[in-house]
Amino acid sequence: MRVLFVCLGNICRSPTAEGVFRHKLREAGLEARVEVDSAGTGDWHVGKAPDTRTRLAAQRRGYDLSALRARQVALDDFSRFDLILAMDGSNLSHLQRLRPPGGAAELDLLLRRYQLALDEVPDPYYGGEDGFEQVLDLIEQASDALLCELKGRL
Ligand code: 4NP
Repeated sequence: MRVLFVCLGNICRSPTAEGVFRHKLREAGLEARVEVDSAGTGDWHVGKAPDTRTRLAAQRRGYDLSALRARQVALDDFSRFDLILAMDGSNLSHLQRLRPPGGAAELDLLLRRYQLALDEVPDPYYGGEDGFEQVLDLIEQASDALLCELKGRL
């Protein structure tokens, strides 16, 4: 099973999702059975570590994002991954336009898939500290729901 999280820059929301979900897989003893990655629809931050605000907020909750580096979504992601989960509607429509013929990955919005309080993870980049905490709150809830789904599918 392979899961890819996607946002715009791959330095705030999707690396948070990658780090949180990987942590939960490890706790559940499923790390070897599910491959997790993240990517951005944009290329501005390729090669960079997660945003310092993202990294520190995650670290305060016990998630280490320091080894992650941003990359842009690639066409072969649509065949390499089973499930591609977008953080917001703009990321999702970008992915829908980019999908090559034969790219069989299932595309969905992370929060909407699990009917959480919001449909989208708000972009925290230009906001204050609260935004980074909200990203973590939403992603922790979604990761629990995703783990539950994958346990049923594995
Ligand atoms: P992300 O946040 O999509 O959650 O990584 C952003 C990071 C950078 C920019 C926008 C959003 N930017 O405009 O550079």
